[in-house]
Amino acid sequence: MWFSNILKNYSNLIYFHPEWPQSLMEKFKGSCLIIPDFISMSEENSLLQEIEPHMKRLRYETEHWDGQIYLYREREQQTWNEKNQKIIKRVADASFSGSDLLSPYIHILDLHQDGYISPHVDSLRYCGRRISGLSLLSDSVMRLGHSQDGLTVDLLLPRRSLYLLSEIGRYEFTHAILKDEESTFKDVRVPRNRRISLILREFPSRNKSDDTN
Ligand code: OGA
Ligand code: MN
Repeated sequence: MWFSNILKNYSNLIYFHPEWPQSLMEKFKGSCLIIPDFISMSEENSLLQEIEPHMKRLRYETEHWDGQIYLYREREQQTWNEKNQKIIKRVADASFSGSDLLSPYIHILDLHQDGYISPHVDSLRYCGRRISGLSLLSDSVMRLGHSQDGLTVDLLLPRRSLYLLSEIGRYEFTHAILKDEESTFKDVRVPRNRRISLILREFPSRNKSDDTN
């Protein structure tokens, strides 16, 4: 595979477009993490087996409530079979520090091959300090853009990897999942097929200052 070398070094899954000041780069690297091969192929299959029968009943939507996602279907799931519950617990343990703010609802987002997610920041009102996402079925490129100074950084999210966004990666940058035609990482094409993501979120803290620090 073309990215076998990249996978040897996790930080190579992050590509900073030009003009980033070194100090901001370091700060950003501390705010996001990608772990390739977080789950095995058999674990991916096990999750898909439980997810697909429900998803198949839904139609792909073209209109998102705030226009951010195109061609997707989604649901939330709280209870899982025993094997999948263990996988989800492993995701939660790797992503959150025993927080009792973790929402029991896993957001499952099924993005059609022709679908994409436009740049956005997850709602401060509904989502807390960290976002954790497991990618199934397809590699993808997540592009983050600074809301003020136009700086851009790409994350390569291999199939079966886990990513984590916190701090400035969560609050000061928008994130987007590129559509297939635009899906490149360091000028190398990353075909974007149908992709299912499992997203774990914390509830916002009641203490406002906790959420913005
Ligand atoms: C979202 C989102 C990213 C993903 O649903 O808000 O940004 O990995 N999803 O699917
Ligand atoms: Mn989001």
